[in-house]
Amino acid sequence: MCGIIGYIGKEEALPVLLKGLTCMEYRGYDSAGLSVGDEQHAFQTVRAVGRVVQLTKRAAEVSLRGHVGIGHTRWATHGGITENNTHPHTSCDGKFILVHNGVIENYAALKEHLKKNGCTFYGDTDTEVLVNLIAWHYRQFSDISTLSKRFKASVRKALSELQGTYGIAVICTDCPNELIGARKSSPLVLGVGKEELFLASDIGAFGGRTKDVVFLSDGEIVHLQGNEFHITGADERALSPTVETVDWDTDVSDLGSYTSYMQKEIFEQPKSLENTMLGRFSADGSSAHLGGLQLSADELRRAERLLLIGCGSAYHACKVGEYLLERYARIPMEVEYASEFRYRNAPLSKNTLIFVVSQSGETRDTLDALHEARRKGLRVSAITNAVGSTVARESDGGVYQRSGSEIGVASTKAFTGQIATFLLLSLYLGRMREMSFSEGCRLVQALKDLPTCVKEVLASCDDWARTTAKKYAKCQSFYFIGRQMLFPIALEGALKLKEVSYIHAEAYPGGELKHGPIALIEPSFPTFVLASDPDMLSKNINNMTEIKARKGQVIALGIEGCPFPKDLCDDVFYLPKVHEAILPIITVLPLQLFAYYAALERGCDVDKPRNLAKAVTVE
Ligand code: F6R
Repeated sequence: MCGIIGYIGKEEALPVLLKGLTCMEYRGYDSAGLSVGDEQHAFQTVRAVGRVVQLTKRAAEVSLRGHVGIGHTRWATHGGITENNTHPHTSCDGKFILVHNGVIENYAALKEHLKKNGCTFYGDTDTEVLVNLIAWHYRQFSDISTLSKRFKASVRKALSELQGTYGIAVICTDCPNELIGARKSSPLVLGVGKEELFLASDIGAFGGRTKDVVFLSDGEIVHLQGNEFHITGADERALSPTVETVDWDTDVSDLGSYTSYMQKEIFEQPKSLENTMLGRFSADGSSAHLGGLQLSADELRRAERLLLIGCGSAYHACKVGEYLLERYARIPMEVEYASEFRYRNAPLSKNTLIFVVSQSGETRDTLDALHEARRKGLRVSAITNAVGSTVARESDGGVYQRSGSEIGVASTKAFTGQIATFLLLSLYLGRMREMSFSEGCRLVQALKDLPTCVKEVLASCDDWARTTAKKYAKCQSFYFIGRQMLFPIALEGALKLKEVSYIHAEAYPGGELKHGPIALIEPSFPTFVLASDPDMLSKNINNMTEIKARKGQVIALGIEGCPFPKDLCDDVFYLPKVHEAILPIITVLPLQLFAYYAALERGCDVDKPRNLAKAVTVE
């Protein structure tokens, strides 16, 4: 894992590959490499531990020429972060060069077999096993009439022996004007440009050079030869693919006046939320419509239960969705981590509607949960941000959150976009069930006001977040507590802080503090109290009192017009009084900024936090 780019075309491949790798940096990685060559120039590979800038320097030291190439950013799974384990990998006979995302589960047995047959290995990756397996079959297939056919047959044969997941791009030096790509449970997209073709795990890697794409399906193999491509299915039959034009910003490299993508994306939220809601309110101003769901009003009314599934921040958005849908649509709700759902085998009635939520639409755990639910005959809808992603294509319908490309590894605008989507769904379902016309109108108005409100809150809490983060950035641990819809926001606040500043943080429902976690409270252990829900005010004040009694520090987020006793909080920010349904979104804003500034204060790279990847395509 993490990002693949392949190129064959009229341009020198090196700059195209470097740009593609740069565009995928946001996905998180710890080393990068590329190979370039063609009929006139022998293929050469450069690899570097660290960032694409290091790779760029290395590439500048060697004269890399050619119109064909592959590149990769690696997030280590098999084998440590070393140059030897960095992709592309070359077979021991030097004939094949390959980049790979995914995990080959039976690599140990295959490696043994290859070693017995004389293969030597320089690193520890499963990918090096795959490239040698292809080379081994190529040697066995010496009777195949053309080199090109022999190349294809060897790739197909090797892939048929794999257990696990893969998205690959592979070069055969005997066929220097060709590339082969294939996928199984790991994304791979073909980009069709003017006299150039691309392969990538992410359409962002096309660097804006084309929006015309073919999304490959599992088991498919694409063969690129000059300006032509041919796709065959798992059964070896030739397919006639549809080239789609994606409505998605494929050039995502522009930071504008911001210093990081995380900052840019936090401040983009007024616009991204507006986009999520655009054209989705009903004409009478009391409801919403979500056409992509492809669920009839009857099917929605018959639903007895909704099950929301996601990972990380998407899971937290589901938790907010649980409270929202329960309150406004009056429907029994359940939320499950995707990784748990898959193995849980819970009894599910046929009238359970499942929603999987995934910004990237490529998260392995979420996809596996989707497949598991569909296998059991359940209808799965998706909430996703990435157009054409695997989740979008493999679900029974869904809603695009339209938050725009999210580059920062830590989710910000995609998280609030997911909550906004749940707000629309609550309205839509609510109005079919028990929500009155006037309640619907009030909620629609609140949602229409949301972008402006978010803009004002961001403007007013920015300085506060910066100053407060500076004051507390040396603390080693934080608690975040909130009640009801603000409990998942506490979870998200803690996750954001951990991800980008590496400060330990935990979150609890306010009422849980006294059941154990309070044992750790002491002067250097601050607690964020999310107290902006007026209904919960007295309960939150109880929490603050308990913390202050133990000499803990309290950072409170309150609500205008409901001031806290001054002696109960060390720092406080008051949010405007808004419709309760949008409280989760406005309450997370100061927390996103706090995490951002705390990370800067501690010298961390907010866009590429250590150990994290943007799309986790392994289980
Ligand atoms: C947190 C974060 C991750 C993702 C999680 C799911 O900031 O980004 O926790 O939310 O990996 O990713 P998606 O939504 O792409 O399925």
